[in-house]
Amino acid sequence: MEKIQLNISDVFSCVSRAEIEALAPEAAVSLSKLTDGSGAGNDFLGWVKLPAETDDKLVREIEETAKALREDCEYVVAIGIGGSYLGAKAVIEALSNSFDPYLPGAPKVLFAGQNIGEDYLFELQALLKDKKFGIIVISKSGTTTEPAIAFRLLKEQLELQMGKDEARKRIVAITDAKRGALRTLATSEGYKTFVIADNVGGRFSVLTPVGLLPIAVAGYDIKGLIDGAREMQKATLSGKDMTAVTYAMTRNALYRAGKKIEILVNYNPKLHYFGEWWKQLYGESEGKDHKGIFPAAVDNSTDLHSMGQWIQDGERTIFETVISVENQKHEVRIPEDADNLDGLNYIAGKRVDEVNKMAELGTRLAHVDGGVPNLRIVLPGLCEHCLGALIYFFEAACGISGYLLDVNPFNQPGVEAYKKNMFALLAKPGYEAETEAIRKRLDAE
Ligand code: PA5
Repeated sequence: MEKIQLNISDVFSCVSRAEIEALAPEAAVSLSKLTDGSGAGNDFLGWVKLPAETDDKLVREIEETAKALREDCEYVVAIGIGGSYLGAKAVIEALSNSFDPYLPGAPKVLFAGQNIGEDYLFELQALLKDKKFGIIVISKSGTTTEPAIAFRLLKEQLELQMGKDEARKRIVAITDAKRGALRTLATSEGYKTFVIADNVGGRFSVLTPVGLLPIAVAGYDIKGLIDGAREMQKATLSGKDMTAVTYAMTRNALYRAGKKIEILVNYNPKLHYFGEWWKQLYGESEGKDHKGIFPAAVDNSTDLHSMGQWIQDGERTIFETVISVENQKHEVRIPEDADNLDGLNYIAGKRVDEVNKMAELGTRLAHVDGGVPNLRIVLPGLCEHCLGALIYFFEAACGISGYLLDVNPFNQPGVEAYKKNMFALLAKPGYEAETEAIRKRLDAE
């Protein structure tokens, strides 16, 4: 299997190789903080050796649970938000047929609890009416409001449609070993459960049952995913593969040179949710203490017709990291047309991917000319092995990068602020003082 490659030569007009390499000693210390646990947030380093430590017994248990859900259900709803949602969504989208929702073949993995959209939940319940469905409810804390609401609704629906005993067989909970409302509920109802280890944070949990079970239910090879991550783990931690370290150093050198926004760019629509997963990983890990690169993402060439103008010509505070997928699964060639009324015969006979690659190259040259430094990650293809390697690459680089930035990459104190206000506004018991304070504030507005 070919490896992931990183090309940074298109950043040298902004930061020199020497400036990037000057960060090598700091980066080496940052990497060692991940392996020896001497850095901030060291109680959340379980993901660092996770791929190598994932035993076959757990993988078999996940596969058997997935098989039972696949046999019993037309739809399986994975309920979760943030790190309890985005990893599975990203991998499933990257591996599936773009038109999967319209194709026969069961089961479909659907998602809920990632929003509080009333119409979304109504329409989901309408779709599931009288259907055989199952639920994977995922929450590390077991107390997050969005998935709790979705689970309450779908649990009730499933029980009404199948009876409590049959419903119980189609519900799997993934949560903390002991703490949280979901653990209490799962124990009291007798659900099949998987544990999210204490030392793995939500956004680093895609290679735990959190991501692996929905991915296996969707029919993908979780062993391949783990193997890809395992190889990248071994190569990164041994220092044989420096791509993660180089990526972390380069983006920090660019940040220090005033490039405050990183745009993750893809030229493959299947990678849209990979961009969403990456935004959460880097945004929640680095955006703190009033520091941090703002992670954004675009899907090209679609977004060249919307964001392209800004990127080419707007404020010069951005850099791009392009994920280029080397090989496509299918071949489509542009046909010759005798009349050539659309003027496309100059590309007749070419593969669509060749045109896409020229769009990518043309954009890179234009953006570099326009003052946008470009990093390029080449991924051999969209397979489980490659995605596992890419996930570990980004996770490792994120930990190193966070330490280079001198923040704790593994907490997310800022996420709590909105929750406190929402609970106060909804008059949640225990939030009386906050409710009063917020009422006064709103009255004064
Ligand atoms: O990365 C994180 O820790 C968060 O994004 C969480 O995954 C998210 O808030 C969901 O939390 P929980 O799994 O506890 O419901």
